[in-house]
Amino acid sequence: MFICSPMMKNPLLSVVRSCKSVQRLLQSPASSPLSALLTKRRIIISRSTSSHVCKDDKIHYITTPIFYVNASPHLGHLYSAVIADCLHRYKLLRGFNSKFATGTDEHGLKIQQAAEAAGKDPLTFCTDVSQSFKHLFSTCNISYTDFIRTTEQRHREAVEHFWSVLWNKGLIYKGSYEGWYSTQDESFLTPSQVGDALDSSGKEIKVSLESGHKVEWMKEENYMFRLSAFQSQLLNWLRGNPAAIQPERFYQTVLQWLQEDLPDLSVSRQRSRLQWGIPVPGYPEQTIYVWLDALVNYLTVAGYPEKHSRWWNAAHHIVGKDILKFHAIYWPSFLLGAELPLPQTIYVHSHWTVGGKKMSKSLGNVVDPLERSQTFTTDGMRYFLLRQGVPDTDCDYTEDKVFKLLNSELADSLGGLLNRCTALALNPAQVYPAFCCQSFSRDEGGRAVAEDYHMLDAVKNLPAVVEEHYESMHVYKALEAISACVRQTNGFVQRHKPWKLDQKDSKDLRWLDTIIHVTLECLRVYAMLLQPVVPEISNKLLTRLGVQPAERSWANMNFLPRYQEKDCPFEGRKLGSDSGVLFNRLESRNVDKQKPKKTKKATKSR
Ligand code: MSP
Repeated sequence: MFICSPMMKNPLLSVVRSCKSVQRLLQSPASSPLSALLTKRRIIISRSTSSHVCKDDKIHYITTPIFYVNASPHLGHLYSAVIADCLHRYKLLRGFNSKFATGTDEHGLKIQQAAEAAGKDPLTFCTDVSQSFKHLFSTCNISYTDFIRTTEQRHREAVEHFWSVLWNKGLIYKGSYEGWYSTQDESFLTPSQVGDALDSSGKEIKVSLESGHKVEWMKEENYMFRLSAFQSQLLNWLRGNPAAIQPERFYQTVLQWLQEDLPDLSVSRQRSRLQWGIPVPGYPEQTIYVWLDALVNYLTVAGYPEKHSRWWNAAHHIVGKDILKFHAIYWPSFLLGAELPLPQTIYVHSHWTVGGKKMSKSLGNVVDPLERSQTFTTDGMRYFLLRQGVPDTDCDYTEDKVFKLLNSELADSLGGLLNRCTALALNPAQVYPAFCCQSFSRDEGGRAVAEDYHMLDAVKNLPAVVEEHYESMHVYKALEAISACVRQTNGFVQRHKPWKLDQKDSKDLRWLDTIIHVTLECLRVYAMLLQPVVPEISNKLLTRLGVQPAERSWANMNFLPRYQEKDCPFEGRKLGSDSGVLFNRLESRNVDKQKPKKTKKATKSR
């Protein structure tokens, strides 16, 4: 018998849980210096958050970070985008109205310098690189609904408005900043975050301990944001919302940061030093800090300042671990200051390294995702990134890993299973054949064995398992679970060897059809679940199985209804006519080198 999975998420339960955490936020004490000023504001914020979570749970807004245009896109950038795309596609399959925003971060000193080095005016330079991100994303089926460039007029207006709100509330004041600054990271650092290093010419320099990028001492008159006033509110928010930053490891990191001193933040630069940015409203001799400018992009896309509520109340951010501080400390503080709801979730991912080092242009170890997609196919690339990428820890990229993974899981295991049950020898009529209840019965006359029933249970429970992992952005765990089931189904076919059955014997024929029916049902579920990860392969597979586009949503999963003596809409249906290979095996000299024994034997026997 199928067992309903205890992991199945109850949407009502999660709504109630979220409402509870909102209530906890409302009850929690405030102890910041500005708490009197902010108490009223906190309640307004909490109410607007609560009204969203409790009422409209079918709206979803997912964002990627916006990408710097100082260099061409690399594999790490594609990774952020693929994670967000996967979640967006999954939400659509669940019947959500989902918005998916990405774009390019085009202001700041390093862009200004990169444009100068390229001999182009900044806007032309930005347009060219922004275009290369768009090209990569369309090639890799990144199905964003919105693409934002921070040089757009709509964004400038949103940033100006946002600044004025903070200013009018007395949260920005004229001050001076003296300390370390990294232009590469566009980040301010405390002395403890800075270390000594040598540059390429052997000169002693100061670097950021976290990123390794060069830092410089900066002393400037500029505008400061009262970040220090938000420390206790941030702590309250996080303590009341333990799922706000995921995975847990990064949630703990942020809590740890919040135990330390939180100085006010410089939010502008002198125009004489930075021209490529949005001027401070009313004070054009200062340029708005590039991170404040960039973070507001999430609101701009949502329709800020007039029509943002619908989307903004359902915002989820995907970010790499290097930009956690900006998203989990600065951004929520700005939002609290502007009396806007906080993001629902910040999903953090780790980095792709090459030879153990973070990819960087200066190290020359950058992997070009466009070029690699031509070798591995775009779905191959997406599958690899999501199957091997673990949010909690860095992953090292090697070509060998890609070849091995794709050949074994997509070509051999999944593709092989499809070949087996659509081969003309076993399925000459090219149909979704009939399921015979007696053949699969546990009573006398049944031919299934205990492992077969275990497999059915595993596949029946699989959607709930996958749902749990997609929801928490542990896509690799979802793919691991699917891959384990594909192996079980291959084991099922192997165990019963349908090619040995006598097709002239009516009992054997019914059993043969049943084996194929069960296998096709398994494949249908795998293809449905894989849609957010490998849209092209899933489409090919579902089309081959004769599953129509309208039959591909999560609600259509309904695995093997015939086993429960219910109708199966696919039984008797003609298979799709494209009998091409699902995923071609990839040939690599390295992989071939690892099979010397086989080659030797073959040579000997000739
Ligand atoms: N412009 C800022 C983000 C502003 S969002 C308001 C930025 N841009 S970035 O181009 O440097 O990085 C964009 C994303 O790519 C980040 O999530 C970052 O973590 C990710 N990656 C950059 N290199 C990476 C790897 N080597 N591996 C995985 N992702 C990495 O930061």
